[in-house]
Amino acid sequence: MKFPNNDIITLLDERLEFNLAESTNKDLILKEIWDDNFSNELKNLKLEYGTSQGNENLRQKIGEKLHVDKSQIVITNGAVFGIFLSMLCLCEKNDEIITVQPNFPPTLDLIESLGFKKVVIKLSFEEEYQIDVNKLFDLITEKTRLIILVSPLNPTGTIHSKSEILKISNRLNEQYLNCKLMIDETYREATYGNNTIIPTYAGLRDNIITISSLSKCHGTPGLRIGWLQSNNENFIEQVKIAKMDTVISNSVLDEFVASKVLEKEDEIFKSRRIHSIKGLEITKKWVEQNNQFINWIEPKAGALCCIKLNEERFTKSNIDEFYSTSKKAEIQIAVGEWFGASKRYFRLGFGYMEIEKLDLTLNKLSKILISTASKKQKNEI
Ligand SMILES: Cc1ncc(COP(=O)(O)O)c(C=O)c1O
Repeated sequence: MKFPNNDIITLLDERLEFNLAESTNKDLILKEIWDDNFSNELKNLKLEYGTSQGNENLRQKIGEKLHVDKSQIVITNGAVFGIFLSMLCLCEKNDEIITVQPNFPPTLDLIESLGFKKVVIKLSFEEEYQIDVNKLFDLITEKTRLIILVSPLNPTGTIHSKSEILKISNRLNEQYLNCKLMIDETYREATYGNNTIIPTYAGLRDNIITISSLSKCHGTPGLRIGWLQSNNENFIEQVKIAKMDTVISNSVLDEFVASKVLEKEDEIFKSRRIHSIKGLEITKKWVEQNNQFINWIEPKAGALCCIKLNEERFTKSNIDEFYSTSKKAEIQIAVGEWFGASKRYFRLGFGYMEIEKLDLTLNKLSKILISTASKKQKNEI
């Protein structure tokens, strides 16, 4: 099979009542952005093909956010299509792509599905998912065409520092001119409360490509609107052609709604960031209360984090029981295996459900932790 099976597909197709698996913020309902203007413009919208680069007004708005010219932006069907098109346009057979693991599953799986060589740099819970830049340098070869880093990272919500990114970009500039550095910034603006937003890497270096979308921070994953940014004109031209050859254009309806989402972005962010900080606080308390069973790395952004089932209380067999009991209780959990980690870890999304429901679900999960964990040895009690 060309595309490997990954159970993350259940997130789309099997929705359980208590969803701790989702990585997005609260879904946006169209009425949140609906007004007379919206209604009038929508009524008159021509359902023609879009342009290969994507709606100009939408690119203008994204360009303003990123402080780059709209010519550097291509609208894509979600950030995932920006990743796909970049791989396709930059690599030939036998070329190598380096990325981190754990990671967003399609990023890991597409590389080999498209016939390229996947080289992974493993990030671990124990090292707080930080990257060892020197280890990364050891992996680069003359055949490496693309390095994909994700900041904030899915599934962990951890980030890479600017100095690390610049160090990598500089090294590529000195030694590997045919290799680009992609920063997947899909969760960049999903900050908590009044925390400062992490600055974008767009426009910072010629060899950096950034991608992002409206899926996670704006709560509109069903729009399927993302973008790719690069200041390399030839690359942008290639991406436009590849996009036309595969999907022709984005849906003009999606692009129209996306423009409206961006017009109301401040309000959309405000409510979602308040929601996220409440979710984060509840999660933090929950982790503390259950610290004999679990541990976590506190995320820096994104309504998601990684939880580890402690070794002393969870062995292989009761880890399986933990997941099966959760499923029976209608609690949806994103298993570490989806992201290239082990089952000992899972992703917990704290921004998707209403706060009361999140609280209720975490309480249910506490009971499942207690009932499925192995008992402590007598001499430990
Ligand atoms: C890190 C990362 N990149 C990209 C995507 C793709 O998002 P979309 O295509 O919905 O924009 C996701 C989705 O989960 C993600 O987690």
